[in-house]
This record gives sequence, C-alpha cells and structure tokens, in this order.
Amino acid sequence: MTGTKELIEQLHISHHLSHAQWCTLLETHAPNDDRLLTDLARETAQAQFGKKIYIRGLIEFTNYCKNDCYYCGIRRSNRHAQRYRLSQEDILACCKEGYTLGFRTFVLQGGEDVGIPDAMLCRMIAAIKQLYPDCAVTLSVGEREHAVYQSFFDAGADRFLLRHETANDVHYRTLHPAPLSLEHRKACLWDLKSIGFQVGAGFMVGSPGQTYETIAEDLLFLQELQPHMVGIGPFLPHCETPFRDYPAGSVETTLFLLSCVRLMLPHVLLPATTALGSASANGREQGILAGANVVMPNLSPLSVRKKYMLYDNKICTGDESAQAVAHLKQSLAAIGYELSADRGDSPLMQAQKKES
Ligand code: 5AD
Repeated sequence: MTGTKELIEQLHISHHLSHAQWCTLLETHAPNDDRLLTDLARETAQAQFGKKIYIRGLIEFTNYCKNDCYYCGIRRSNRHAQRYRLSQEDILACCKEGYTLGFRTFVLQGGEDVGIPDAMLCRMIAAIKQLYPDCAVTLSVGEREHAVYQSFFDAGADRFLLRHETANDVHYRTLHPAPLSLEHRKACLWDLKSIGFQVGAGFMVGSPGQTYETIAEDLLFLQELQPHMVGIGPFLPHCETPFRDYPAGSVETTLFLLSCVRLMLPHVLLPATTALGSASANGREQGILAGANVVMPNLSPLSVRKKYMLYDNKICTGDESAQAVAHLKQSLAAIGYELSADRGDSPLMQAQKKES
C-alpha cells in the first residue's frame, strides 16, 4: 500500500489522486504528513501569487431565503431571524466605502430572495459596474434558470459563487430538503461556467453525514469542474436549525483540506473563509499559511451584520470596514503577507483572455 507521504508527493506532482487514494490519505494522515502537506501547499500558493492576498468586499444584501437547508441560520423556517433587504442606495454606499478602502471586487451575497426581481438585481449590477468599471462584481445568490444567469452576466457580473455543498447524493439529501437536488446544483454550476462566469464551488467540513468517502467525492467533483475558486469552511451549528446539536467541523481538517485543494488545483483562488475565522481566533491566518490566498471582509452595514447569521458566533466585530481592513493588514503583516491592490481575477481566466 502507498504511504501517506507518497500520496502527498503524488498529489504535488500529478495534481490527482483516485477516490481510494483520497480516502487513504484522509483516514491515515499523521502530524508529520500534515507538515509536509502544508509546506508544499504554502510553497505552491506563493509560487502562484507571491505573498499577496486578494481581498473581496462581502455585501450581505438580503437574508430572505425561500430554501430550508437544515444547516443554515437564514433558512425559511427560522422564524426568529429578523429579515432585511438592502436598497440599491445602501449597496452603493457599501461599494463607495469599499472602493475608498481599496476593494476592487464586490461580492453581493444573499439568500434566494423571491422579493428581489431578477431585473432589479441586473440594474444593481449595472449600476455598480457603471460607477466602478475597474471592479469585479461577484454574485452569490443561489440557484437560478440559465436565462437568468445569462441576464446577470449580460448586466456585467463577472463571477458567481455557488458551493456544491456535497457531491454525494445521499449526503446532499441529509443537508437539504426537497425540492433541492444535487443534480440541479451541479447543472447550475455547469451553466455558470458555460456562460463565462468565473465560478466558485465548495463545501463545509464536518457537516452532518459527511464521511471520508463523501469528501473524496467532493475533491473529485472539484477536479472535474475546475472552478476558479473553492470555498471551504467548517460546519458551525446554528441554534435555530435542526442541526443545532451537531458538533462543529474541525479547524485542523479544514486546514488539511485547504492544502489538499491547493495541491490539486494550484491556480485556484482559495479563500480563508469567515467560518474558519469564526471557528478559531487566528483561523484566517492559519488558512493562508495552509495555502489560501483570498480573504473576504464584510462590507455590510453594521446594522445588518448580526442578522446575517448563517451559524452561531459568526464574526461580526463592531469594527467599521476601515478598522477591519487596518486590522487585516496588521495580521497579514505579522505572518509576512500583504494585501494585493489587484482585483484578483482567476489566473485561468487571465490566461484565456490573453489567448482570445
Ligand atoms: N456553518 C458553516 N457554513 C455554513 N454555510 C451556511 N450555513 C453554514 C453553517 N451552519 C455556508 C454554506 C453556504 C455559504 C454561503 O455558507 O456552505 O454555501
């Protein structure tokens, strides 16, 4: 049988492991292996991106959601969530502040809010692109029809984040009630790619029902999809969901998987996620040292941040965005990194643009 060290070296060189090999690596890795994996992943990230970290300004513009995902604090059935929706004016004010602070990507994230017509979202995208033509607009608004995705793209949206959540059908059903399905989720991701979005997929670590086998499927699906970004964070329970009593996902396993993804997809944009930062005081820094190269500070107005509670204890410091960026700069400097002024397109996308 191949040892874990050999598996890590194979992953580093060939960027591929079989399902059985992923399972072996996940089951048998020891602290020595983890150090090797982290070192290789960090070197790979630095070879791609230097010691520059891209930032994205996250604007959580609505917490209304028609879905009822068992893990999520803004699920439809949570009657205790105070619902809000930002106006176009509110959103543009966030962008203005963000632009001054150096953000060149705005991520509009929200629940699947049927109260916001698609045309209204298109007008919002167009308004941001008109005011800030040098910025990228990323959407994270869930599953839509192909034609709607196309209209968002035509309005000027550049990127789209839609975590696949799990690539295993049975596990998908454990996490999501009908009518949600893995088949439709995957179809959305392929649609987004075919339209020309830079696409982000990803999953939670330690969600109820997850096993080494399902994680191996996640990694193989990511390899097949070849997304531009991969979002991975620990599952964290929320007290108003059916998963309230489940344990949180492990920070160590999350870091391990970040390094695995960095070696499997060397060019990928890999955020040190809010969930990782919420689960551990220096989670974001640890994520960067494990191969991540993106952070997504919150630009939402302070008044709504506590309402966008996907899980308990989500970081929503009383920091104004400006303070948050100053802190971020300090904590990155402490580990030898700095913020990039670039808008941070996927290296894959840049290569394609040069070719065409
Ligand atoms: N714990 C961790 N991550 C969560 N998300 C939603 N709920 C939770 C939770 N309880 C993640 C999902 C979603 C992203 C926006 O946030 O993966 O895709």
